[in-house]
Amino acid sequence: MLHLTLRQLQVFEAVARHLSYTRAARELHLSQPAVSMQVKLLEESIGLPLFEQLGKKIFLTEAGREMFHYSKSIAEQLREAEAVFQQMKGLNRGELKIAVASTANYFATQLLAHFCQAHPQVVVHLDVTNREELLEQLERNSLDLVVMGQPPSGHDLVAESFMENPLVVIAAPYHGLVGKADIPVESLANEALIVREAGSGTRSASERFFQQHEVSPRIALVMNTNEAIKQAVQAGMGLAVVSLHTVTLELQAGRVAILDVVDFPIRRHWFVVHRRDKRLTAAALAFKQFLLDQGATIA
Ligand code: PGA
Repeated sequence: MLHLTLRQLQVFEAVARHLSYTRAARELHLSQPAVSMQVKLLEESIGLPLFEQLGKKIFLTEAGREMFHYSKSIAEQLREAEAVFQQMKGLNRGELKIAVASTANYFATQLLAHFCQAHPQVVVHLDVTNREELLEQLERNSLDLVVMGQPPSGHDLVAESFMENPLVVIAAPYHGLVGKADIPVESLANEALIVREAGSGTRSASERFFQQHEVSPRIALVMNTNEAIKQAVQAGMGLAVVSLHTVTLELQAGRVAILDVVDFPIRRHWFVVHRRDKRLTAAALAFKQFLLDQGATIA
């Protein structure tokens, strides 16, 4: 492997083009000895002279002609790479790999629709999964950004909150507790609860809440989607703690009701999260900024 630097190649290329140390030095805003030094270092690492001096003029040697050919094509490749990165910076192309918590998907698509309208060239890959899987994906470094509840500390992540995520207790509209004010948390101990699967952020937040209040409701059903939980609640199979974002339509249609339980809603937040060491692409940076600036308003 040759030990040469791009700087040496750049200086050599200028000298070879001008066939003059003086003119190359002027073009590169360097002193002439600095230019000669770079060429000398390059000759040393190749082990062959690149220029020969005849009278006052310098000429390329055979090795010099070869090196001129390579240095031109290396310069071309670098310019091409620069253009690609410029395009990416300008969001003319680029990919955005994001994953969102199942619960965040109720507003994520709408946010993406706004973002994609402003940046039609960005190709978005969206994965929808639960909190535990999101943390694993961050660990594997397989995506740019994640939208989830507050991540645990100690994972070397950057997490910025952009919106509230209130968790409420829902019941079938004909449930006996509907319309009652200030229902004590303790009275939920007599109720059947429908909960999300282990690994769900909603589930762990509600478990923490009940533990703090020393109440243990009876878990009647475990389901791995918010949709299934809402259906089960509507069917009168029990109560559930869900994010307010998941029940907008059902509340409007009167298919479920929110119970006025003391200390509810549980106040959670949505965070945009990435690894601390991640070099975010222009598309990822733009989406993150979009979430922080407009996420709450649009969602
Ligand atoms: P989910 O929500 O895992 O329950 O879908 C994510 C969160 O609240 O962290």
